[in-house]
Formats: sequence, structure tokens, C-alpha cells
Amino acid sequence: MASLRSFIALAALLTSSVSAVSPPLVKRALPALAQVINQKAFNVLPTVPTAEEFNGSSAPWTPLNLTSDALKEKPFHVYDEEFLDIIGPNPTFTILAQTPKDPIFHEAVVWYKKRDEMFFVQNAGNPDAGTGLNKSAAIYKISLKEADAVKHTRNAVGKVTVTLVKSVPEIPNPNGAYQYKGQILFAAEGQGPNIEPALIVMNPEEPYNTTKLLNNYFGRQFNSLNDLTINPRNLEIYFTDPTYGLSNNFRPAAGMPTQVYKFNDKTGAVTVAADGFAMPNGITFSPKGEYAYVTDTGMWRNGLELLNPSSIYRFTVQKDGTFEDRKTFAYTDTNIPDGVHCDSKGNVYAGVGDGVHVYNPSGKLLGKIYTGRTAANFQFASDGRLVIMGETQLYYATVAAKGDFIESYL
Ligand SMILES: *[C@@H]1O[C@H](CO)[C@@H](O)[C@H](O)[C@H]1NC(C)=O
Ligand SMILES: *[C@@H]1O[C@H](CO)[C@@H](O)[C@H](O)[C@H]1NC(C)=O
Ligand SMILES: *[C@@H]1O[C@H](CO)[C@@H](O)[C@H](O)[C@H]1NC(C)=O
Ligand SMILES: *[C@@H]1O[C@H](CO)[C@@H](O)[C@H](O)[C@H]1NC(C)=O
Repeated sequence: MASLRSFIALAALLTSSVSAVSPPLVKRALPALAQVINQKAFNVLPTVPTAEEFNGSSAPWTPLNLTSDALKEKPFHVYDEEFLDIIGPNPTFTILAQTPKDPIFHEAVVWYKKRDEMFFVQNAGNPDAGTGLNKSAAIYKISLKEADAVKHTRNAVGKVTVTLVKSVPEIPNPNGAYQYKGQILFAAEGQGPNIEPALIVMNPEEPYNTTKLLNNYFGRQFNSLNDLTINPRNLEIYFTDPTYGLSNNFRPAAGMPTQVYKFNDKTGAVTVAADGFAMPNGITFSPKGEYAYVTDTGMWRNGLELLNPSSIYRFTVQKDGTFEDRKTFAYTDTNIPDGVHCDSKGNVYAGVGDGVHVYNPSGKLLGKIYTGRTAANFQFASDGRLVIMGETQLYYATVAAKGDFIESYL
């Protein structure tokens, strides 16, 4: 309660006309690592910068003049009281690992239940990674038992082992991943003109052998496959195909529109589920599979294009697996929404420019798990354990909400 009072006092200092008449936003006790962000207190700012000065593309906005340190000190930001049900009474947040420059904590976060490990991949095409044309982005894993042992430590750098996983044959620039019948299915962006993008299954145990599942659309190369998921109702594989391989200079010019595809691995049928995106990126389904969420990160395509989406779209998924009713679900406030996942109740989580944003199924922003830096992706393991990618930093958070899985595919 002390922190809530000091927050209200601060808001009162900063914007006396508003907070004087505002009732407290959150009546329940706040967890130690949580703080309330009163949106009403910044509805009217004394000056509002131009797009050239501030456009959400770089440093996160610091609401209410809170410092970046203050925002990180209590990383569970409550925008709506419903967020307290998501995080529960005692959420934890820990930095597990960091690298000086190499962004090895990037995407394709996926839980391997049998050994309770989380796999993830390096950022392909980032100059600091030296990947792209020269070498493939690497796959790594951590043990969640090790992570859980340090969950009450805020900084546990050096206490958890980050293990390199050498897939054979090597998956070329993996970027998206999902559980697949006890194995892991990766979306690979490809490398140069002759190593085409593909969906590739990896054995999550040594020797990490791999098998291609799909590498073309009726004889044509995909652009650079980015993310994939599986619909729990029809068990078909859905994946996105933007042109980041081209943006990052490791794939040739695109040969097809930037689309979402649907792949039936029993019949071999590949179809287009949706188009009309600038850069379709993350993809997920609601727990029963009746809604699909696709992020569009077109704001970063050929450099910064501020008129393109930085948005999450929701589609209704018909019984036959086709998409309809495209709806703008959210336009994110800080940079782009990349990875997207639902919890077991259908709340929607997106990896954004300042952490993980959490929305209820109506698209209301409930809160953020604030990292103060790009969190391109993240994933649940069972029981509220979350691993969050921060490019050069790796985070572990525990909350009350639970992940959404296809049990038979774990
Ligand atoms: C933040 O600080 C600046 C500079 O001191 C001030 O002009 C502005 O009013 C403050 N913003 C808010 C929301 O209080
Ligand atoms: C966006 O903001 C950054 C500063 O954060 C600035 O350097 C850039 O020029 C802006 N871009 C546009 C298109 O206004
Ligand atoms: C590939 O290696 C060359 C030579 O070392 C270097 O100049 C180039 O920047 C590298 N490209 C990437 C994408 O890392
Ligand atoms: C890996 O090799 C084993 C043994 O040959 C095989 O059963 C399994 O299907 C392979 N997995 C993949 C993904 O290639």
C-alpha cells in the first residue's frame, strides 16, 4: 500500500488537476514487485513532441517522468486492476544471463516438457551476432530447474548454464518454434539464395538430428519464415512469411506476398490463411483454437516506416481452419509487437519494445512485465513460469497465470 500511496502522491505532484479528482485505480494490495501506472495522469501533457522527436521506435517512453530505474525496480506495471489476477500475490522477476553484445536471447522460445528445458535462438542477421549470410543463428537451451532455484534473486547472472545446441543437419537461421509431438518444430528463415526457408523438426535430445517438413509452396521458395504455431482444434500448422531475411541482407528479393500459411502435415496441403500484412510476424491461437492472433511489425520493414502497423490482429478461425473477421486487436505503444502467446484463459501476451504487454481478450491493456528493452519473444512453461528474451539479457518471471499448450504435442 505504501508504494500505491507514494505513486498517487507523485501523480498528484505531476498533474494536480487530474489526480485531485481521481479515485485510487487499484484497491487491492500490490505485490512487492508491482506498481500502478495511472493512464489518466498522462492524458494531458504540458508539451507533446513531434514524430521526429519521439515516435516509439527507440527508447521506451517513461510515463509520468518515472525514471527507467524506477520502472525496472518494480517491473510488474499494473495498467488495469485485472492484471493483479494475472500476476498473483507474489510474482518474481530475475535476470538469468547476459552477453556483452551478441543478441543470443532473441526468439523461438519453446518449452521441452520431458526435461523441463527452454530452448531459444540467437538473432539472425543482427551485425552483433555475425549471423545471416556468414553463419546460421545458434540454438541454445537452459534448465528451468536451475532458473527456478534463483527466482527470488533479482540478478542471477552466472548462476544458470546457457547450453549451445548443435542441430544436425543445422537449421539455417531458426526464428520461430513450437512443440511438435514430443519434438520441436522450427521455422527457419534460410540463408542466401540457395538455402531455402523451411519448417524443420528437431529432436530435442542429443544428437539433435533434424528433418525437413516443408520447404516450398508449389515449387517456390518462401521469403524468410518467421514464426509458427499449431491450432489445437485441427492440429494444422500455421506460419508467417515476412521478408526480414531480405531486410537483414541474407535472403534475396521476395517472390511472394508477405502472408500467413496453413499446412496440413497429414495431407501435405499448403494454403494461404491470410494476406494484407506489411510484415506478418508472431502468430498464436486462443486456447480452444477459435481465434488467431497475428502481429504485424511493418513499422520496421525497410528501415522505419511509421505509417505501417505495429499491431496485433485477431481473426476468427472457422471450423474448417480458415480465417475470417480480421479485427485490429491492439496497436502497441512502444516499438513493435513481435512474439504473441495466450495464457490458459485466453489473455493475450505480446513481446514488445519495453517488455511483455498483457491484454485481456477484448484488447484492453492490463499491464506490462517491464524489461525496458526489446523483448522480441517469451514463452510459458507450465504453471506460470515465463522465460523472456531481451536480446543481450535473459529473464525469468513467475506469475499466477498459466501457459496454454497442446498436451499431446508436448
Ligand atoms: C516531465 O518533466 C518535464 C520536464 O521537467 C515537465 O515539463 C513535464 O510536465 C513532466 N511531465 C509530466 C507528465 O508531468
Ligand atoms: C523517430 O524518432 C527518432 C528519435 O527517437 C528519430 O531519430 C527519427 O528521425 C524519427 N523518425 C521519423 C521518421 O520521424
Ligand atoms: C560476413 O563476414 C564479412 C567478412 O568478415 C563481414 O564483412 C560481413 O559484415 C559479414 N556479414 C554479416 C551479415 O555478418
Ligand atoms: C532422429 O533420429 C531418430 C533415430 O534415428 C529418429 O527416430 C527420429 O525420428 C529423428 N528425429 C528427427 C526430428 O529427425
